[in-house]
Amino acid sequence: MYIPEEKVSEILNTSDIVDVISESVILKKSGRNFFGLCPFHSEKTPSFSVNASKQIFHCFGCSAGGNVLSYVMKYHGITFPEAAKMMARKYNVTIETKEIDPVKRRQIHLKEDLFRLNKTIMEVYFDGLKKQDIGKTPMQYLKKRGITDDTIEQFRLGFSPNNWDTIVKVLKDRKISKNIAIQSGLILERKQNNGYYDRFRNRIMFPIFDVNMQVAGFGGRVMDDSMPKYMNSPDTPVYNKSRILYGLHAAKQYCRQEGCVYIVEGYFDFLSLYQNGIKNTVASLGTALTSDHVRILKGYAKRMVLVFDSDTAGINAAKRSIKIFMNEGVDTRILVLPQGHDPDSYVLKQGQKAFNELALNAKTMMQFLLHISIDTHGLSVEGRIRVLEDMKKQLILIQDSALRSLYVKELAETLNIDEKAVLEKVREQYLSHPGKKSFLHDGENKDAKLESDRREEQMISLMLNYPEIINEIKNKEVLEYFYSEKLKRLAQKILSLDPKKEAFITNAMAGMENAEDQELIASFAMNDFFSEQDIHQTALSIIHRIIRVRKKQENTLTTKIISAEKGSDSDLMDLLKKKQAEIQQLHDHL
Ligand code: UTP
Ligand code: MN
Repeated sequence: MYIPEEKVSEILNTSDIVDVISESVILKKSGRNFFGLCPFHSEKTPSFSVNASKQIFHCFGCSAGGNVLSYVMKYHGITFPEAAKMMARKYNVTIETKEIDPVKRRQIHLKEDLFRLNKTIMEVYFDGLKKQDIGKTPMQYLKKRGITDDTIEQFRLGFSPNNWDTIVKVLKDRKISKNIAIQSGLILERKQNNGYYDRFRNRIMFPIFDVNMQVAGFGGRVMDDSMPKYMNSPDTPVYNKSRILYGLHAAKQYCRQEGCVYIVEGYFDFLSLYQNGIKNTVASLGTALTSDHVRILKGYAKRMVLVFDSDTAGINAAKRSIKIFMNEGVDTRILVLPQGHDPDSYVLKQGQKAFNELALNAKTMMQFLLHISIDTHGLSVEGRIRVLEDMKKQLILIQDSALRSLYVKELAETLNIDEKAVLEKVREQYLSHPGKKSFLHDGENKDAKLESDRREEQMISLMLNYPEIINEIKNKEVLEYFYSEKLKRLAQKILSLDPKKEAFITNAMAGMENAEDQELIASFAMNDFFSEQDIHQTALSIIHRIIRVRKKQENTLTTKIISAEKGSDSDLMDLLKKKQAEIQQLHDHL
């Protein structure tokens, strides 16, 4: 589908980027910008910024950036037309959809049909639970497990009758197409190819909502000890196990309020905690947590507490999840419950207060891993060496260097080993795994950035923020003196735009062909440290410097390399040599 340029402009002019991003990222105002944790890379301190007057976002950490449409595309993993449509709908901009690609249209309709069908069936199950006859046993079961009527209402718990064709019949009566019925996962084809049968029979039913409160799938529990205990919808076009978190639609506002989310495993764990006032909770439904899960949660809370059973399975699950959380750079705590309890049984028995107190003592990931390692190896001399071996593997995964050194210190103290020795071990481990994301090279980009690049970038920042100077720049032909081909190309594009156009920045962005260019534009537009009064003066002086420097061909890098060589800092040396090769290449292209 093609969205006409003027429609794109209209969407950009009527939408509000702060409003849109706030739906998925917690933003705090600081100075001229809003800041939050970047949804596109792992970080602990906010470097993701949104500027309301320029209507752009930019992450100082991973350099993701763009306008509201680039954000929506990137965040939801959708195409440009889809993003434009989404925003058009939100801001009541009408777009004619005649030219929509038929394949896409079918996909969209299929999803809508599946959501609608799931909702219908949810009500069928819900009614089943309310029926005097068949609903009696399941209702008793829920009561026995401490679930209240309010909870049943709110989460639309239900019951799938003990028949093979309750849903099959509903689908037939409502003339639901066979394709949709099968794709929903609610019914299955008989082996003999002679008809269909219900997937869920004689089970307590839990509808699984997505964040927008649409019914994505179902889980069903038996009411006795038969197997399997739970059955779940298969993955469908609307149900993706690696992205969905049970209860998030209801919990999200509380997660934001508390800045913290409890992650539990089961339906009943979630419902019991929620019902007992611990509403900032979601359930992973027994599947391994994925980085998608964690990224989605990052939009609602900065701290995550994994609540696990104290059995071996629980501990192993915690260990498996840790890597994901570490990669995402989230402040993660691990709460291991007392022997024999899961969150549901614990809160039912001990209540909300006891749970909250327990939660205060949740361990950091490092403490948790250290604890397990010490439990395994003991604290003899050999034991401590083994513990150190275990922990160094974990320590190199921590991206945040301040946090890492804190842990190194803590580990050294616990094991009563010299801190320098611990550091040396960690360094060794790092060097033998060079594939790992480098932490020795923190700040590489900033350090090695060429002075000339900076000035060229400043030039572009000026052009974006003060389009009135564009004509002057044209006259001076300063672009001819740019070192960077990439920046020159960008600047040329900007120069070709009409400086009088409304919302200059976001419209300039919309004119860029690829996401990388959009990101660059966002970052330059954000770097606006000029004072309004003497913009012309500033522009002139930058222009002159660009021209002068180009003529002189200064290069300070060689001196840096010589001094690094003297200091025999091998990491820095590699870095600089690499950078120099890059620069050489760049200049060769000129
Ligand atoms: P658990 O076995 O820990 O059960 O599974 P539970 O949640 O405590 O359930 P109750 O209290 O006995 O009712 C945790 C989660 O793993 C998924 C379910 O989502 C469950 O809530 N699971 C478990 C399955 O999908 N299938 C199963 O057979 C078992
Ligand atoms: Mn349980």
